[in-house]
Amino acid sequence: MKKKVLKALTEARDGYLSGQALCDALAVSRTAVWKVINQLKEEGYQIESVPHRGYRILKRPDVVTAEEIGSRLQTETIGRQVVFYDVIDSTNNEAKRLAETGAADGTLVVTELQEHGKGRRGRGWVTPAKASIMMSLVLRPQIRPEHASSVTLVMGLAVAEACREFCKVDARIKWPNDVVVDGRKICGILTELSSEVDYINYLVIGTGINANLTELPLEIAATATSLTLQTGMKIDRAGLIAACLERFETYYRKFLQTEDVSLLLLQYNALLAGKEGRVCVLEPGKEYIGTSHGINERGELLVEREDGTIERVYAGEVSVRGIYGYV
Ligand code: BTN
Repeated sequence: MKKKVLKALTEARDGYLSGQALCDALAVSRTAVWKVINQLKEEGYQIESVPHRGYRILKRPDVVTAEEIGSRLQTETIGRQVVFYDVIDSTNNEAKRLAETGAADGTLVVTELQEHGKGRRGRGWVTPAKASIMMSLVLRPQIRPEHASSVTLVMGLAVAEACREFCKVDARIKWPNDVVVDGRKICGILTELSSEVDYINYLVIGTGINANLTELPLEIAATATSLTLQTGMKIDRAGLIAACLERFETYYRKFLQTEDVSLLLLQYNALLAGKEGRVCVLEPGKEYIGTSHGINERGELLVEREDGTIERVYAGEVSVRGIYGYV
């Protein structure tokens, strides 16, 4: 009910919606609407009520609740179900637990604080409460398990584009799992898979975005940044989440059509950080320098070695660095 009222007010053409229109749209009484409006005010929404015009939201609190995110989304499956926690161990862990008990395709788990946030390769992901975006999606794609890792690329593209359009920053993709601004990381993606040899039970794609951090932990200060530090502005986190998910749904559908990123190649390569630049590829047991020529339809990074041969670098255990820094 709260989500429906918020959604109706969010989508109202000139911002105003009369109490009667709300009652009609939601098929509830005036008293019920009035109660919800009061609840929203208690939660920090500033809502004005103007005679003959109705209610209008003047200011929204910076929250990432299920209602706030849900009221901004126009998607069909992605984020149709949002599960919010004030505190959780890790949204990826919770998404996996929910997936095991039947959570629907597209379910989004989001929190204000992770007690055991996870990064890639067993590392942690630590961010202060209420300042960043920590979210995980449960997906149940009917594709071959070996194609699943490309979903990370789809999310990277969605986040980079959303940050560019919503926050007006020059966000770029650092293949395969990060998004960077000004050569520094603003987003990391951790994809986890539960599958049989030829069948995916579910996939969890976890995304952490440094939104409103004003300081960065010393260990990452040299290689990371935040959207607030880059723009000098406070980021509307729910709005950015919705912008990411809207784009993700569009691109994910294209990915499902072909089970590869062929329909996204142009967009992806246009936003790839360090394309045509010199990179250092660190694979277990071998290390070489070459020139990055972007990704192919399978999501592999094409790197031209100094002898002219082209290596197709598969994400897995590989790490790719610019030769002069992180990107
Ligand atoms: C990385 O760059 O190492 C990946 C970081 C992924 C962090 C996100 S935050 C939301 C989700 N839950 C987690 O525990 N991790 C991911």
